[in-house]
Amino acid sequence: MNSSSVLQGRTALVTGATSGIGKAVAQNLARHGVQVVVHGRDHSRGEALVKEIAEEGGVARFVAADLADAADTLRLASEAGAVDILVNSAGLYEFVPTAVTDAASFDRQVAVNTRAPFLLVGALAPGMVERGHGSIVIVGSSAARMPAPVGAAYGASKAGAEILTRYWATEFGGSGVRVNAVSPGPVHTEGTQAMLGEHTAMLDKTNTRGRAGDPGEIAEIVAFLVGPASSYVNGAVLFADGGELSALPA
Ligand SMILES: NC(=O)c1ccc[n+]([C@@H]2O[C@H](COP(=O)([O-])OP(=O)(O)OC[C@H]3O[C@@H](n4cnc5c(N)ncnc54)[C@H](OP(=O)(O)O)[C@@H]3O)[C@@H](O)[C@H]2O)c1
Repeated sequence: MNSSSVLQGRTALVTGATSGIGKAVAQNLARHGVQVVVHGRDHSRGEALVKEIAEEGGVARFVAADLADAADTLRLASEAGAVDILVNSAGLYEFVPTAVTDAASFDRQVAVNTRAPFLLVGALAPGMVERGHGSIVIVGSSAARMPAPVGAAYGASKAGAEILTRYWATEFGGSGVRVNAVSPGPVHTEGTQAMLGEHTAMLDKTNTRGRAGDPGEIAEIVAFLVGPASSYVNGAVLFADGGELSALPA
């Protein structure tokens, strides 16, 4: 643990911290001395992460909630209590064509990817405003700006989250609360592994770096966005996608 970190003593709620990007974010913030409320649905992975953080000298507790359920999302906010930092990383991506995306799939993606951050910000930002400081990060997606032949509902849900980021920066910026997004391109996580299986290496061909991202690389950006080094950054959507490949043949 880095006891001289400028984030030392802050408190954070990190959603989707039982896996992938959210897990790396929670681990990194804990190493900076942030007391982290680790969220997910999977109790065993949540408790394992709390234990892992404690073994490294950090402080964390686990709160389970289903973000597809509005009441459960508000319960999470209430159980998290007064936090200085909110990172919305929980998300789901169902990459199928529009004609086979049923209403339940569309609603699920919008509920978890767009509505849950909306409800959490509505519940937690007023306390930050009252205390005169706070920092909120949304994990968006390059899918919000780079259309693909599949995943239109996911792209729309993330585009919604990214525009909400800019609204909230305007709504809360004058009260000392900054709201920014990191918008990753493909990242190797448990989620992408489960989706692609043996084809996961295809993610490495999506950008100019010739490899997909690592969750730790996104976690570093989140630490920057919630810390004082980014004090003049508000309403930004920071692209972390390895650089877009040109659509034109080389
Ligand atoms: N990986 C990528 O290539 C990539 C690229 C761009 C953006 N993103 C975004 O980055 C975020 C994390 O992605 P990832 O790849 O790290 O995901 P992941 O490995 O699939 O993990 C998803 C996380 O979200 C939680 N979650 C999913 N549905 C939930 C629900 N209904 N209620 C509560 N929690 C729920 C999961 O919790 P449980 O498993 O405990 O339920 C888990 O912690 C997502 O918002 C995703 O859209 C990912």
